[in-house]
Amino acid sequence: MSEISKILQKETLLHNDLVQLLSTKGEDMNTLFLHAQKVKEQFVGNKVYFRGLIELSNRCKKNCYYCGIRSGNPNIHRYFVDEQEVLNAVQYAHEKGFGSIVLQSGERNDKDFAETIERLLKKIMQLTNNEIGITLSLGEQDEETYARWRAAGAKRYLLRIEASNRDLYAKLHPQDHNYDHRLNCLQLLRKTDYQVGTGVMIGLPFQTLDDLAEDLLFFKTLDIDMCGMGPYIEHEETPLYQYRDQLLPKEERFLLSLKMVALLRILMKNVNIAATTAMQTLDPQGREKALRVGSNVIMPNLTPLKYRDDYLLYEDKPAQSETADETVQLLEEHIKAAGCQVAYFEHGDSQHYQLRK
Ligand code: 5AD
Ligand code: SF4
Repeated sequence: MSEISKILQKETLLHNDLVQLLSTKGEDMNTLFLHAQKVKEQFVGNKVYFRGLIELSNRCKKNCYYCGIRSGNPNIHRYFVDEQEVLNAVQYAHEKGFGSIVLQSGERNDKDFAETIERLLKKIMQLTNNEIGITLSLGEQDEETYARWRAAGAKRYLLRIEASNRDLYAKLHPQDHNYDHRLNCLQLLRKTDYQVGTGVMIGLPFQTLDDLAEDLLFFKTLDIDMCGMGPYIEHEETPLYQYRDQLLPKEERFLLSLKMVALLRILMKNVNIAATTAMQTLDPQGREKALRVGSNVIMPNLTPLKYRDDYLLYEDKPAQSETADETVQLLEEHIKAAGCQVAYFEHGDSQHYQLRK
């Protein structure tokens, strides 16, 4: 038995095991992927859940050093999708049998924003007879806001920690971004009864394999229900762009991301893991590959086409001019090719959450 196979037999994977697994190449990497595939089959099967993604607004008060829509970027046109357009996208998702939608936007903490979202949530629930599942990805908020949105119909929340290592976090964000505050928000989300998702970027400048191993253990300690993670992709109009020469080549960055997905599936077994758009950006078959080794959620972009080019978090974001119908059709083909099957008309709550309850 190879050394990698022996590590994979262990009951609990520790930091050093994870680092070794993250370093695998060739045959050893394939051993890891095959093992992850088996764990996936055993615990979550081959169903894939669709979450229709609506990128509500690119207005953001934050200034993350990696992100193309950061407040400090003057070169983008700021938008907020019309309410009726959101409802049209929701209706589309509902009619097609997507179990849920994701509302994502840049971060704002003003009262007007909180109320706009609350109103929108109520309308969405009304429109879909309370049938559609709603996931929010709207950044750091206070407890009252989280609770109000929860009461208005949202049941899942994604808030990526981005990098669980404090020092690395500090290098990626301006000083007024507070790591502890973010951690506290993750706790508040749990307290206000959301299914909680987090995630990190992979292949960031200054990031080491030790950091990534700790990211995986962080997810486990937090006992998360869902995860969205993907490769870091440079964007010219951001401060981190100056470190682009230090990055792993794109193929390696992609494979590292794939290993992270595989390892999280092995570590946490029954959580929901997204095959993210960033994975597809670095490899045209990226999402399909992620589905094979561990992912079970995909977020087809339902943002009205006219807004899409203003929501460029990173370069070369794929499928910017693809209509929802085209996206769904292509995804279906890719999902089938990966030996999986779309679960229509199901919410697809993570089993982890259901068991936790
Ligand atoms: N590369 C990859 N992912 C990015 N995000 C923001 N900027 C980038 C980038 N340059 C991710 C962050 C954020 C999510 C909405 O998009 O992880 O949480
Ligand atoms: Fe704003 Fe999110 Fe981009 Fe940070 S990552 S600048 S919070 S949209």
